[in-house]
Formats: sequence, structure tokens, C-alpha cells
Amino acid sequence: MTHAEILAHPAAARSAGGEPLLAIAGATKSFEAKGRPTLALDDVSLTLARGEFVSLIGPSGCGKTTLLNLVAGLTAPDRGRVSFGGRAVNGPNTQVGYLTQDDAVLPWRSVLGNVMLPLEIRRVPKPERRERARAMIRRVGLEGFESHYPGQLSGGMRKRMSLARTLVYSPDFLLLDEPFGALDAQTRVLMQRELLGIVRDLNLTVMLVTHDLHEAIALSDRILVFSRRPARLIDTVTLPQPRDRDPLHRSRADEAVHRRLWDKLAAELEAGPGGGGTGGGGHAP
Ligand SMILES: Nc1ncnc2c1ncn2[C@@H]1O[C@H](COP(=O)(O)OP(=O)(O)OP(=O)(O)O)[C@@H](O)[C@H]1O
Ligand SMILES: [Mg+2]
Repeated sequence: MTHAEILAHPAAARSAGGEPLLAIAGATKSFEAKGRPTLALDDVSLTLARGEFVSLIGPSGCGKTTLLNLVAGLTAPDRGRVSFGGRAVNGPNTQVGYLTQDDAVLPWRSVLGNVMLPLEIRRVPKPERRERARAMIRRVGLEGFESHYPGQLSGGMRKRMSLARTLVYSPDFLLLDEPFGALDAQTRVLMQRELLGIVRDLNLTVMLVTHDLHEAIALSDRILVFSRRPARLIDTVTLPQPRDRDPLHRSRADEAVHRRLWDKLAAELEAGPGGGGTGGGGHAP
């Protein structure tokens, strides 16, 4: 297998024994809430190889966003290690693009102004800032809307803008926290297709949190299933390679994976507070 072929096939890169781009080892994290500790992550270990697309699924409130925050370096684990590119993450990880769940946009800034923001923070000279922002706005299909304000955009267009802002400083690792959750079904499929195209073109490594099992199946190389809080990794599904897929096409193998994921999640949801052997007992609900 040539080097180019290895790069084109993330699974091959994994088996080629390359150093993982991201490694989380034994991460445990709790929060203080109303004077009581809440365990959010319980001994989570995982790795991502360069070029992989990995989705995280799990019950609401289990700790998925907390895990992304660890990778982004916005919070630190109580125990365990997070390393990125072979180095420990000890503060904000500037090598990742993070499209957060609340997706904060600045309503008083135009599309161009919003997309340029990360470049301003990085003190990129103004002409270059504009040029790069305009190129990324074009890439996400928002050309012609540069001077619109967020309030004048549809939900799908706002997501495109946020994606452009996340990608404008050329990170090669993307954290996406339920990026398309609020969109209607058709817009969501369009955005999934475009995301796949962008990920392929820009050679991105992606960690996606989603509640949409079909989305996880359509986009991912691997799906990680987490328990109810505190999040523990309870299942890993590796999808067949290569992943040149259409989010609208569902194969029988996809349906089988969907059933497996759903069964796992249903078992977690039915377990109820403190039950189900998920290690959730003894913590605040
Ligand atoms: N900064 C914080 N302070 C206190 N508790 C927090 C904080 N961040 C998260 N938590 C708690 O940690 C647990 C996990 O939260 P997290 O946001 O990671 O869940 P999630 O899996 O992303 O949920 P959802 O699917 O609803 O987005 C929750 O009980 C939450 O209340
Ligand atoms: Mg979340």
C-alpha cells in the first residue's frame, strides 16, 4: 500500500501503527453542583487517528460535551491524560476547531465579521483576514451573504456561517457538538453531505457529538457509545471502509448498526437513575 493510499484510508492509517492524533487515557471528571460532586466522566479512554471521523453518542447529560471540552483544553480532567499531536493538553488547544453546542454567534457582526473573528484573535493582517474569510464563506455555500447579519439568515445558513468560522483558521481537527440538531430533516441531510465534502477536501479529523443515529452511521468511520452519566465507553462500532457515502442511502448493514446502537442506548435510558450497572449510583441526578 502506498503512502497516498494509507492517507486516503483512515482505517489503514490506524492499522499502519501511526501515533494517534488524539489520545485520552483514563479521563475522569466531576463537577461541584449545589455542594455535591457530580461525576461526568468515568475513566474514559479513546484514541483518534489522523483522518478519522468518529461520532460520540450517549444519553442527554451523560458527559459528551465535557469530553469535547477536554479535547479543546477548556477544562482539565481530575484524573487521566489528554494528549494531542503527542503533547499533553494543558490549556486551550489552538489546533482544534470547535463548533460548540450553543454555537455562539455575534448578532451585531455581519457574516464576514463573524467568520473573520478567529483570525482577528490570532492577529492575522486585515487583508489576509478578509481574503481567507471570504474563501471559507464561499466554501460553505454562503457567497453573496457576506454583509448579512445572523438575524437575517435561516438556521441552515447560520450553521454554515458557524462552520466557516470554525474552519477559517485552518485547524485540521474538528470538534462538532450536535451541529445539525436544530435543523429540519432535509437541511440536515444537505449539511451532512457538505460536511463530508469539506472533511474530504480539507483532510480533517473529526469528533462529532450527535443524537441522530443515522447521522452517526452516515458520517463516521467509528461510533463510540457512552453510558448514562457518568459517561463510560460501553460500545464501539467500526463502519466498513471506504466511507464514500451518501447520507440519504441506507444499506442493510446500516440498519443492523442502527439497531445495535439503539438497543445499547435504550438499555441505558431504561436503566433509570442509579440503576443499570452504569456506575451512576450515589451521584446527584
Ligand atoms: N461547568 C459545569 N458545572 C457543573 N456541572 C456541569 C458543568 N458542565 C457539565 N456539568 C454536568 O456534567 C454532566 C454532563 O454534562 P455534559 O454537558 O457533558 O452532557 P452532554 O452529554 O453533553 O449532554 P447533552 O446531550 O444534553 O448535551 C451534566 O450532569 C452537567 O450538569
Ligand atoms: Mg452536550
